[in-house]
Parts: sequence; structure tokens; C-alpha cells
Amino acid sequence: MEHKVVLQPSVVEFAAATEESLLAAATRQNIVLEHSCGTGQCGACKAKVLVGQVEFEDRYNVLTSDELASGVVLTCVTKALSPLELEAEYHPELAGIVKKTVPCKVADLQFPVPDVAVLRLRLPPTAQFQFLPGQFIDLSAQGVTRSYSVASAGIENNQLELHIRQVPGGQFSDIVFNQLKPEQLLRLHGPHGTFFVRHETRPLIFLAGGTGFAPVKAMVEDLIARGDKRPVHIYWGQRSASAVYSDLASQWAQQHAHIQAHIVVSDDPDWAGRRGLVHEAVLQDFANLAGCTVYACGSSAMIAVAKTAFLQQGLEDKAFHSDAFLPAVTLRG
Ligand SMILES: Cc1cc2nc3c(=O)[nH]c(=O)nc-3n(C[C@H](O)[C@H](O)[C@H](O)COP(=O)(O)OP(=O)(O)OC[C@H]3O[C@@H](n4cnc5c(N)ncnc54)[C@H](O)[C@@H]3O)c2cc1C
Ligand code: FES
Repeated sequence: MEHKVVLQPSVVEFAAATEESLLAAATRQNIVLEHSCGTGQCGACKAKVLVGQVEFEDRYNVLTSDELASGVVLTCVTKALSPLELEAEYHPELAGIVKKTVPCKVADLQFPVPDVAVLRLRLPPTAQFQFLPGQFIDLSAQGVTRSYSVASAGIENNQLELHIRQVPGGQFSDIVFNQLKPEQLLRLHGPHGTFFVRHETRPLIFLAGGTGFAPVKAMVEDLIARGDKRPVHIYWGQRSASAVYSDLASQWAQQHAHIQAHIVVSDDPDWAGRRGLVHEAVLQDFANLAGCTVYACGSSAMIAVAKTAFLQQGLEDKAFHSDAFLPAVTLRG
């Protein structure tokens, strides 16, 4: 059985079957709602039920009691039980981008520091794989599938780049760090997520933890290529100086007057630069964050603590966009 879902305020409509999530139903009809993990863990897909009945369980306790009481749900794990009116953001920018499964080969694999791999994948010239800078893909090898943000602004020479941190004991980490060979065949599916730079004019703050730099690299490279002169403030957090696997952010800051870059190291007494937690550096530099837009990527703990602190320092809720590098649970449909 299908129910009509009307999005507010856009008044865009789609049909949702009772056995599929609202996010899956919208995606199937080429209507892209705000989302990231697709598994009920990150909170990116929050939406408010204005009218109608749903089946929803907040299994990972993502929502506050106030949000639950006011009808907020996570569209990736919510099903329609009646016709609905839903207050939800919808992204026409992504409507023309088709999700697909594409075979790809290992074109290059480098380890700029021991626990980070920079993997370049070669796609078939006929693949016509499209994405917006900042989005992620699901990569499959040897029966294991994990999500990775694309670190390049587009497909260059039929290739795209990923930055993969080694998780001790991790299944995919073991494949990437111990087994991958040049020209090995893999499979990717995507693009996924709504982490991309919105069309607006506000100053941009990019907050990255570890390999959370990957989508930031893609987004900033795209802004530079398009001659976008919005002020850009990059804050990249690492545990130690030896973990800083790229000097690109510093190079951009040297080459472009509107870009500033701050490497913030939390756990290394020998580091001569900025020390502490990466979001604290933003709070020190911006007495009031009203009027800025933040794009944050990295661990869910970093994102949660940064969001709470930034909202207290004047940032508007809708000006905080994030992609959390959550451990894999079940894959999205
Ligand atoms: C939207 C999205 C984008 C992502 N993009 C990137 C990216 O660009 N670069 C990148 O390096 N990673 C990224 N990740 C994380 C990535 O998908 C994998 O979770 C990670 O590489 C670990 O996979 P694994 O198979 O090696 O470990 P697994 O075998 O899945 O896990 C091994 C153990 O480590 C724990 N674990 C796994 N990941 C984490 C974590 N992040 N924090 C704490 N504990 C963990 C697991 O719970 C498990 O106990 C992203 C995740 C998501 C959801
Ligand atoms: S909680 Fe729904 S996309 Fe992450």
C-alpha cells in the first residue's frame, strides 16, 4: 500500500509504500532529502511530521525528548502509515544525479603517513559517474562494503580519490592496507549524502577531523576552480603532528587571500602550531558565528560537540552541515 507524502514548504509530493523508509521512497522517485548514514545513526535526515501517522523508532537515541515530542523523525528509518505532510529540506541540485553501481580498478595507492591510504580508483570511460563535491560512495571489495567520501572535486582522467584511515582490526582497513594490488577490481555505488556546498554567499567554515579532510578537499578544490571568492576558513584537527598527511590546506592559504587554514593538534606537546580540540579553535576565532555556514566532517563525537558549542555561539541550526564517519552497521537500501 502507498501513501502520498507532501513536503513543506516546497509542496513537492512523492508516494511512500508502507514497507519502505520515507528516504528510500523519495530517493526512488528522484527527490533527494537531506541525509547521510541512511541507518538512523547520524541525525542528518531529521524531518518533522506535520500531519499523519508514521512508524518510527529512534534506535540510536539521536533525537532529544523535545524533538520526539514535537513530531521530529529520521526519514531513513521512518515508514508512512497514512498520508503525510512532512517539514523537510529537499535538494533539487541533486535530482539530476543518478546513483549507480560502477566497476573500478586500483589506479594508485599511496601511504603519505602509515595509517592513511590515498587510494585512486579508475572508472570505465563510459561510466558517466557524477557527484557533487563533498558526497560519498560505498566501496566494495572481497564482499566487504564501506562508505568513503570522495576527496576529488570531480572525475579527473577517469579517476577519483579517497582518503582511508586505518581502523585497528577493521575488515576494510585490512583489505586496503594489506591486500590491495594495482589494477585490482573493486565496485562502487553512489553518490550518497547531501554534504555539498550550498549556493549562498556567507563565509564558510570547514571543520575536519583526520580523514574528514577528504570531502573538504573536494569542496575547496571545487570552490577554487569555480573562482568562488567566499571567505573560507579551514580547521583541520589531528591527534599528532605526524598524522598531518597533506599540506594542501596550507598551500591554498598561501595562494588565495580569501582562504585561511589552521592545523589544530590535540595530543602532541612538540607541535609548535595551534593546540587543543579543533572546534575550540573556531570558538576562539569567532566570538559570534551568526552569519557563517559550517561544514563539519569526521567522527560523530567531534561533530556532536562542535554543533552544540557552535549553536551556543550564535550559529543558526540550519547553517550547520555535517557528515559523520560512523562505523558500518547495515547498509542502506
Ligand atoms: C558517510 C560516511 C563517510 C565516510 N567516509 C570516510 C572517509 O572518507 N575516510 C575514512 O577513513 N573513513 C570514512 N568513513 C568510515 C568508513 O566507512 C569505515 O567505517 C571505516 O573505514 C572502518 O571500516 P573497517 O571495515 O576498516 O572497520 P570495521 O571492520 O567496520 O570496524 C572494526 C571495529 O572498529 C570500530 N570502528 C569502525 N569505524 C570506526 C570509527 N570511525 N570510529 C570508531 N570506531 C570505529 C567498529 O565498530 C568495529 O568495532 C565514512 C563513514 C561514513 C558513514
Ligand atoms: S540518521 Fe538518517 S541519514 Fe543518518
